[in-house]
Amino acid sequence: MTEQQGFVLWMTGLSGAGKTTIALEMLDQLAERDLRLERLDGDVVRESLTRDLGFSKEDREKNIERVTFVAKLLSRNGVGCICSFISPYQSIRDDVRSKTTNFLEVFIDAPLDVVIDRDVKGMYKKALAGEIKNFTGISDPFEAPGSPDIHVRTDKQTVEESAAFIIGELEKRGLIPVAEPA
Ligand SMILES: Nc1ncnc2c1ncn2[C@@H]1O[C@H](COP(=O)(O)OP(=O)(O)O)[C@@H](O)[C@H]1O
Ligand SMILES: [Mg+2]
Repeated sequence: MTEQQGFVLWMTGLSGAGKTTIALEMLDQLAERDLRLERLDGDVVRESLTRDLGFSKEDREKNIERVTFVAKLLSRNGVGCICSFISPYQSIRDDVRSKTTNFLEVFIDAPLDVVIDRDVKGMYKKALAGEIKNFTGISDPFEAPGSPDIHVRTDKQTVEESAAFIIGELEKRGLIPVAEPA
C-alpha cells in the first residue's frame, strides 16, 4: 500500500460555487481513513490569520500569500491540505503551485446565474445593488482556470458526487492510498 503524500488541493471558484461544502463533504467521506489532513478555508482564515485584510487585488494577494506559507509547510511535511479560496487570479494560483508540494488546481465550477440564484449569504443581492465593492463575478474579475487539474460542475453533480470524484483523483495520482473495499 502506498503511503499518503503531502499535497495541496486548491479549490477555486465563485462565491457560492460549493468550495466549502465540498471540502467538508470530502473530510466526511475520508473520516474513516487514517490520513493527515488540514482544511484551509477563506472564510475561516479571514477571521484569524488574515483578519486585517480586505478584498482589493493587493489584499487578495496578501491573503493567499499567507495561506500559501502555511500550505507550503504542511504539504512538505506530508499533510494533505484541502484549501477553499475564491482566488480569482490565475497568476496567484500559479504562484501557489510553484511554492507548494503536489499542488492540484480544482475548479469548483458553477455558472454565475446559478450562484446568484443560490445566494447562500445574500451577498450577490447586495453586490448587484452596488452595496459591495470588489465582489468577484459582479464588480471584480474571476479568471476561470484555463487547464485545471480537476474540474467539477456543481450545477450538474451533487455534493457527494463531486467530493467522491475529487477523492478518486487523489487516489489515481497516488496522493492517498486507494480505499480498501468495505
Ligand atoms: N452540487 C452542489 N455542490 C456544492 N454545493 C451545492 C451543490 N448544490 C447546491 N449547493 C449549495 O451551494 C452552496 C455552496 O456554498 P459554499 O459551499 O459556501 O460555497 P463557497 O465556499 O464556494 O462560497 C451551499 O449552500 C450548498 O448546499
Ligand atoms: Mg466558502
